[in-house]
Amino acid sequence: MVPVFGVADVERAVSPNEAYDAVRDAFIAHARGEWSMPPKVYVTNYPAGDFRAMPAIGGGHALLKWVTSFPGNPARGLPTVTGLVLLSDAEDGRLLAMLDAGAVTALRTAAAAVLAADTLCRQDASSYAVVGCGVNGAETVRMLVARGNSPLVWDVDEGRRRKVAERLGAEVAPSAADALASDVVITVTPGSTVLYPPGSLQRGQHVSLMGADGPSKAEVAVDELARARVFCDDWEQASHGGELAAAVEPGVIARADVTELGAVLTGAAPGRLSDEELTLFDSTGLAIQDLAITKVALGKADALDLQHLDV
Ligand SMILES: NC(=O)c1ccc[n+]([C@@H]2O[C@H](COP(=O)([O-])OP(=O)(O)OC[C@H]3O[C@@H](n4cnc5c(N)ncnc54)[C@H](O)[C@@H]3O)[C@@H](O)[C@H]2O)c1
Repeated sequence: MVPVFGVADVERAVSPNEAYDAVRDAFIAHARGEWSMPPKVYVTNYPAGDFRAMPAIGGGHALLKWVTSFPGNPARGLPTVTGLVLLSDAEDGRLLAMLDAGAVTALRTAAAAVLAADTLCRQDASSYAVVGCGVNGAETVRMLVARGNSPLVWDVDEGRRRKVAERLGAEVAPSAADALASDVVITVTPGSTVLYPPGSLQRGQHVSLMGADGPSKAEVAVDELARARVFCDDWEQASHGGELAAAVEPGVIARADVTELGAVLTGAAPGRLSDEELTLFDSTGLAIQDLAITKVALGKADALDLQHLDV
């Protein structure tokens, strides 16, 4: 019998701090070649949205996430990100768990955003902001609060920014400009509007760019990528489907200009070099992050009152 984790079950099984630690360990295991992951496959139906098939293997388990990004869905009362995660035993192929992909995605996205910020921001960074308070932005606010930060929040939707701030113990920024000028900013918008036009990033700022995770999305202008130290989750993915793609195609940025977060975490590459530097982290979202969260959840399965499927 295979346990099934719904949204609330994933939240009960994996705390923000457990998610953060698991995702950090996954980035390290991947950088060391212990966990592996073929590039995600995009199955597109633009302009409606796209489907992604994301496999990974590591630490005795194999995973497949089948997940969507349909930006117009919230207007129809539907979530942008939906789907299913399947976790299997890597030795005998048995299916071990099925999980709600939206909940796993939100936890691992928030963990990667905050992990990158902690790794790359100035030591004296004191102001934090999350821009975009949808499903994944709200989870990022929850992660920051759980880790002792007091972020400002901003969303173009006034009701949403107020509700997220109230629910999670954060403060609404006085304006978009105030949020975007914080020492550490995490952007989780649909990527249809550039939040940082040319010349707008502040000296010493760190921005984790989480929203532009697919073709033709961008939260920052190419000119800003060119004047920052740029980090990403995975070069193959980010240079083809993420924020970086727009800078790589015209030759503004090349492989040698971009450092993977895992390399910084293992000490193989330097992170921030000075307080003045601008650091940007481009995330497209990795299946190894999902594997990390899913393993933690599986470890809690017996302690939770879960539904089971005979498959
Ligand atoms: N990098 C990753 O690993 C990763 C993971 C999950 C989702 N995503 C991407 O993140 C984005 C957000 O996903 P979601 O599920 O949270 O979506 P969502 O629709 O739930 O939330 C998006 C929020 O952004 C707000 N917004 C839109 N334009 C804005 C702007 N210019 N300024 C401020 N707020 C703005 C919307 O009002 C909404 O509240 C999507 O593009 C999704 O594909 C990336």
